[in-house]
Amino acid sequence: MKDARAQFGKTAAAYVSSATHASGEDLERLIAVAAPRSHERALDLGCGVGHTLCRIAPLVAFVVGADATLEMMQAGRASVVTASNAAFAQSDAAALPFPDATFDLVTCRLAAHHFTDAAGAFREVARVLRPGGRFVLVDNYGPDDPALDAFLNELEKLRDASHVRNHTIAGWLALLEDAGLRTAVESDLLTTKITTEGWLERSQTPAHRAAEVRRRLREAPAAAVATFRITETTFAVPKVVLLGRL
Ligand SMILES: C[S@@+](CC[C@H](N)C(=O)[O-])C[C@H]1O[C@@H](n2cnc3c(N)ncnc32)[C@H](O)[C@@H]1O
Repeated sequence: MKDARAQFGKTAAAYVSSATHASGEDLERLIAVAAPRSHERALDLGCGVGHTLCRIAPLVAFVVGADATLEMMQAGRASVVTASNAAFAQSDAAALPFPDATFDLVTCRLAAHHFTDAAGAFREVARVLRPGGRFVLVDNYGPDDPALDAFLNELEKLRDASHVRNHTIAGWLALLEDAGLRTAVESDLLTTKITTEGWLERSQTPAHRAAEVRRRLREAPAAAVATFRITETTFAVPKVVLLGRL
């Protein structure tokens, strides 16, 4: 978690304007799957600057965003989240400061691949959900082919040393099921098209590591070029939307 706080603490402002975080098909799909209701209490885990939080706020009674990095939440409160029924709590995902069975709905978008203890975080999700509550996870996933999985995860780690793991879909499902949630895959057809240079800039990747990312993309094997749709300036990362029920 220390690595993530250092990384996101220095890059918070870039996430306010990041198009892949502020909007996207994955965010719309998350809202559709979560189906928030006006009387419900919601938690958005790894809320960052609050792009998901502010989409949920008008649809529920109350929503809390929990994140390890104070600077992300401060940047969000200053310019993203204006809703009066939204609050922030600084917290490690694996040690949430909420009583058992507090929330009807928990969401977590594009954050769990940074969690040092994703298994512990999902156990906390199950603990703070009320019986019958829903958890919607949106995250990047690694392909089942181990070489492609390694290609993607190594690229992410070079770009941002706080990256932990884009699990395979089976890996994400196993983590949720081990936490006691009944799971369903809601969509595995989403991708985010990434502009390589903007992606490196947002993370303030040191020059030597950025050069290695560019080299790997330039010299990528044919299977990686096809899977990640690598061009001279862009590539695509696959995303999954999972629903877990308690
Ligand atoms: C890309 S941002 C999240 C984006 C956000 N969910 C959205 O929809 O815009 C990833 C966030 O995960 C948070 N994070 C990383 N590790 C964490 C942990 N162990 N506990 C809580 N938050 C963590 C980081 O501080 C960062 O704000």
